Amino acid sequence: MTGAENTEAATRGLIVFLTVPFRNQSENLTNLKGALSAGQVLVDATVPLAAAVSGKATRLLGVPQGSAAQQAQEMAPDGVTVVSALDTVSATALGDLEQRLDEDVLVAGDVEDAKRRVAELIALVEGLRPVDAGRLEAAHLIEGLTPLLISINIRHKSHAGVKLTGLPDELR
Ligand SMILES: NC(=O)c1ccc[n+]([C@@H]2O[C@H](COP(=O)([O-])OP(=O)(O)OC[C@H]3O[C@@H](n4cnc5c(N)ncnc54)[C@H](OP(=O)(O)O)[C@@H]3O)[C@@H](O)[C@H]2O)c1
Repeated sequence: MTGAENTEAATRGLIVFLTVPFRNQSENLTNLKGALSAGQVLVDATVPLAAAVSGKATRLLGVPQGSAAQQAQEMAPDGVTVVSALDTVSATALGDLEQRLDEDVLVAGDVEDAKRRVAELIALVEGLRPVDAGRLEAAHLIEGLTPLLISINIRHKSHAGVKLTGLPDELR
């Protein structure tokens, strides 16, 4: 495993993950303008929690573009495709290799091939099932699930995620 500064790391892969707090998202996207290039996919996991402005983590901020992911798409260089994913997956759970995951990852984006490539990557993580949730505008709805989950998890002292029922075994 190797590390690099963000502007260097962002040049290295076809798929780049942006996982910074909402308050730092636009600053990071500005800094990455010269690093990201056409053809890359930018996976945005940002949730605009009100905690970003000293509010509650159980509330969602309004974003003029509709969602943090749509803000990312607006700020990304031409030809970079933003896919929204992982908004509802706990970083603690993801980081704990001993913990068994069993949840769905809602994936939204406007370019089918980019969404498929991100879904394939997510499916490599045991216990995560990527689910195509539609166009990037759906990110507004997906991001809104996170403060709801936080609220439920505080109430029940739990680690609940998203798990959809009734879907076919074989997802597109
Ligand atoms: N935590 C979760 O379970 C979870 C789940 C789903 C989605 N998300 C979303 O994922 C994003 C990250 O959440 P998090 O809980 O992982 O946040 P976090 O722990 O506060 O920060 C994540 C990373 O962002 C980096 N960072 C912070 N400010 C930065 C800046 N100005 N420039 C560059 N890097 C910066 C931090 O780097 P340093 O360590 O070097 O400061 C850290 O590595 C948020 O938008 C959150 O809504 C989180």
